Amino acid sequence: MSVLIPASAIRRLETAARRAAKASYSPYSKFEVGAAVLAGSGRIYAGSNVENASYGLCNCAERTAIFTATTAGERKVEAVVVYTPTATPTMPCGACRQVINEFGPQAVVIAICDSAEKIESTLPALLSQAFGPENLIKASTAAARKAR
Ligand code: THU
Repeated sequence: MSVLIPASAIRRLETAARRAAKASYSPYSKFEVGAAVLAGSGRIYAGSNVENASYGLCNCAERTAIFTATTAGERKVEAVVVYTPTATPTMPCGACRQVINEFGPQAVVIAICDSAEKIESTLPALLSQAFGPENLIKASTAAARKAR
């Protein structure tokens, strides 16, 4: 079950996501994205999209934020806020939903933009019947049982 995220934490996440978008490196798409995640420790980590001349290597803002949190030792994501300077909100792409699932299978996911429009959802709603760490644990347990 998703936990209720305090309004003050949401406000801080929104500010961090807006600020991160300013650092977006997106010379090819010109689509600026900022993200912020609330980690298990209560700390907030931000990220922006980082593009590359080899287009396939572009990294989304959400994944930059989550990898930064992971590198700081975090292993849990409670909430993700995505900001784009657009008229309508932008929700995380499929790849980012999968990466959020690794650390935040119950995470609250919010998208904000430059209008009052806002989307509030949860990872289970965005990625139903997700493939995750528990699938590998189940598989290795079954393999160990078979080997006995
Ligand atoms: N992008 C994100 O940062 N997050 C998403 O969830 C969707 C797409 C970025 C990747 C690329 O730099 C640009 O937006 C256009 O796809």
